[in-house]
Amino acid sequence: MNGCQDDRMSDPAAVDPTTPVAPATPVAPVAPATPVVAVLGGTGEQGRGLARRLAMSGLRVVLGSRDPARAVAAAAGLPGEVSGTDNAGAATAGALVVVAVPWTGHRELLLSLADELSGKIVIDCVNPLGFDKQGAYALPVPEGSAAEQAQVLLPASRVVAAFHHVSAVLLLDETVDTVDTDVLVLGDDRAVTDLVQALADRIPGMRGIYGGRLRNAHQVEALTANLISVNHRYRAHAGLRVTDV
Ligand SMILES: NC(=O)c1ccc[n+]([C@@H]2O[C@H](COP(=O)([O-])OP(=O)(O)OC[C@H]3O[C@@H](n4cnc5c(N)ncnc54)[C@H](OP(=O)(O)O)[C@@H]3O)[C@@H](O)[C@H]2O)c1
Repeated sequence: MNGCQDDRMSDPAAVDPTTPVAPATPVAPVAPATPVVAVLGGTGEQGRGLARRLAMSGLRVVLGSRDPARAVAAAAGLPGEVSGTDNAGAATAGALVVVAVPWTGHRELLLSLADELSGKIVIDCVNPLGFDKQGAYALPVPEGSAAEQAQVLLPASRVVAAFHHVSAVLLLDETVDTVDTDVLVLGDDRAVTDLVQALADRIPGMRGIYGGRLRNAHQVEALTANLISVNHRYRAHAGLRVTDV
């Protein structure tokens, strides 16, 4: 959609999300040069929630969907500069592209978008989980984790794992001003993990913390099953805090 995004991608500093953060409300006018964050599966709770908070921080956001009309409708319900299109259009538009689809659709979607995502920073928050009468549990993933699967499918993209433990309910709750949680950010490129940490830092209450190489993404994804148990037992939307950092 916007060829100049590719130019920015050659220099992570050029899309540095640490650039001044607009106040949460009211939404400040956004400069045309503001980097675009795309969200694949942006019509879902997690995608809309992240889109909402990032747009409130002053970033331009494009929601992707298998049905562009659904994305347009979802975008209309969000504050800030948010638009909607199909997943391919969103992947093309975004300098940073969040993957927020269910695990069952992960492989097929990313395979289909390998060209659009080439050269992009891909932020994978997908938790491969199963559910039965005992609750949530981690599914085995041949590549090791959803994020590693993404990196295998997208060799020309730089994949980062992040936002696995962030509650979509809190992200979408208009009465919640700060989302108090740390976000573990994993990846193999320091400049890119720094960038995604800074992206998390834009959301009030949130803090991006480097969590290791992509090969350690499995346990971060799997830990979500434990958090779901915590939420169930304590009727909460639990987050995580890393101490002494
Ligand atoms: N919900 C949370 O609190 C939370 C927190 C952290 C991480 N996550 C992770 O974020 C991801 C999305 O979670 P969610 O709760 O937002 O899920 P969701 O609502 O079930 O799905 C998100 C969107 O993905 C699209 N989608 C559904 N099936 C698909 C398929 N087979 N192929 C491609 N796209 C498909 C749908 O959009 P269209 O029909 O419009 O295409 C849907 O609106 C999950 O992997 C989850 O593990 C969720």
